[in-house]
Amino acid sequence: MAHATPVPADALRCLPDDAWDTGPTTHLEHLVEGGHVLEFPHLRFLLAPDERRFLDPAWSDGRSKNLSLRGDGSIRGARGSATDLEALRAMIARYADSAQALVDRLFPHYRGKLRAGNASLRPFQVEGRAASWRKDDTRLHVDAFPSNPTRGVRLLRVFHNLNPDGRARTWRVGEPFGDFVERFAPRLRPALPGSAWLLHTLHVTKSRRTAYDHIMLQLHDLAKADLEYQRGAPQAAVDFAPGTTWVVYSDQVLHAVMGGQHMMEQTFYLDPDQQYAPETSPLHMLERRMGRPLR
Ligand SMILES: [Fe+2]
Repeated sequence: MAHATPVPADALRCLPDDAWDTGPTTHLEHLVEGGHVLEFPHLRFLLAPDERRFLDPAWSDGRSKNLSLRGDGSIRGARGSATDLEALRAMIARYADSAQALVDRLFPHYRGKLRAGNASLRPFQVEGRAASWRKDDTRLHVDAFPSNPTRGVRLLRVFHNLNPDGRARTWRVGEPFGDFVERFAPRLRPALPGSAWLLHTLHVTKSRRTAYDHIMLQLHDLAKADLEYQRGAPQAAVDFAPGTTWVVYSDQVLHAVMGGQHMMEQTFYLDPDQQYAPETSPLHMLERRMGRPLR
């Protein structure tokens, strides 16, 4: 595959803000919905001196790569004394509050419509992680999860590189979502009749998969399984230096995580019909491409 079109040079938008709750930048709904990565190189999440110990992967319970703060306030994936876990919970909760303040300011159209999901600390190094090809996030993909159907709800994510040793978080960013869909659409196959019901009944999925979820999982898998696409597709390498925050619709922007260690992340969910421009959502783009409703 030839390097057809390069990734647009403005795929990344660099913004000057250096505080979470106040700053010059606002009304960026159209940019983030247009598939741009919003990068804030000066927007730091500061750790207190006694919080730096939580960067050690030893706080992980070994079962999950994330230490997560759930919506109900509980911590998952961590081990330690009750006092330690409370300090860790407070640190991740502070990140969740910072991310909320940021999205409220950047996206006034979303106020009261975004639903906060888990916030997490990811202390492990990306390099050298063994994974099956389907779980290998060093391959370009859009986020879609086999057990968690979104039914078209958007995944807006606020990432921060916390690395204390000067190491960047390295991504590749791929082609626009519409180009990606055009490339793989001829290889999409309908779900087997009854399969969504069966997967839900067997508790493989947490809710019933829609036609949208079925297509997004196929797009995720087709891209990851296609090594020629991984090598030859339009893409740009991006280094997010320590202290950088970035905001992206990860169900829309083709991305691959190539390296780094120590990251924080907050997920928000948004109904695509609550977007500033709902027609730019993957759900509506795919419905237009397939010529049928996918909900
Ligand atoms: Fe991802």
